[in-house]
Amino acid sequence: MTSHALNEHYGIPGEVQFIAGEGGFTKAVISNRHAAAEVYLHGATVTAFQPRGKAPVLWLSPQAVFKPGKAIRGGIPVCWPWFGPHPTDSTKPQHGFARTAQWSVVSTATLPDDSTELRLHLSDDAQTRSIWPHSFRLELAVVIGSSLRVALRTQNTGNDPMKVGCALHSYFHVGDIHRVEINGLDGRDYVDQPDGNRIKHQTGPVKIEQEVDRIYLDTEDECVIQDTALARSIRVAKSGSKSTVVWNPWIAKSKALADIPDDGYLGMVCVETTNAAKDARFVAAGASSEVVQIISVE
Ligand code: BG6
Repeated sequence: MTSHALNEHYGIPGEVQFIAGEGGFTKAVISNRHAAAEVYLHGATVTAFQPRGKAPVLWLSPQAVFKPGKAIRGGIPVCWPWFGPHPTDSTKPQHGFARTAQWSVVSTATLPDDSTELRLHLSDDAQTRSIWPHSFRLELAVVIGSSLRVALRTQNTGNDPMKVGCALHSYFHVGDIHRVEINGLDGRDYVDQPDGNRIKHQTGPVKIEQEVDRIYLDTEDECVIQDTALARSIRVAKSGSKSTVVWNPWIAKSKALADIPDDGYLGMVCVETTNAAKDARFVAAGASSEVVQIISVE
């Protein structure tokens, strides 16, 4: 659908507008009395969330590439139906295909508290079935209010169970990574991906002093990113998820990744709401499963 047609069907004057964004990709621009936000249909990626009078909450790389087949570096890419590399076939895309697919708009609405809801969906087609042989309907419901609520619902529309891993791969904007602490993971075990997937134990808050790429296990707790430089805390609450991924590429990986500036690691950290590693879920035929992330700033 063209932006014109999207605005005719789903635009809300002064609140939701569809326009051509970077790379010509369509984005929804949302503004209400609580916050402003942007959501690309490419990957159903929320790329901006900014409560009124506050600094941007999400990090979007200034070198993000907006091209078909490429995930947007920043915001909240939707990793699905597997997290990380495909478990058995390395030719399949890292983090699945949802983050590079073209999603469609289901609805937009103004909610009673003047927050704004945008619902997007993705269903299987010949191309997705060639990568992953399942019938599905995936819906992302985004509510932009004083907090940002993102809910990813997987529906199995086929006749066989399917195994699904996923991530709401949120990139957060921080003032100075050296002055950031992540609370909420104390006492949890994690898979240390840069260290050969060894299982380690977290004691105290997470500090980022090197490349950090960890899958925290058996945790449904919320995390709080304490950012001393910006004098704020970002709270990341969740449901439907028993794993949390923390990622910062640090120096070498920032240099190696073309869509991250060399010093990009200083101003961002990912705290991801996931069904990763042993937390991947079986969804029975006809059943649904939902992962929800709620982001707020204090
Ligand atoms: C994280 C993974 O979730 O995403 C990391 O744990 C990965 O291993 C990172 O490097 C970024 O992945 P990508 O595919 O967007 O470069």
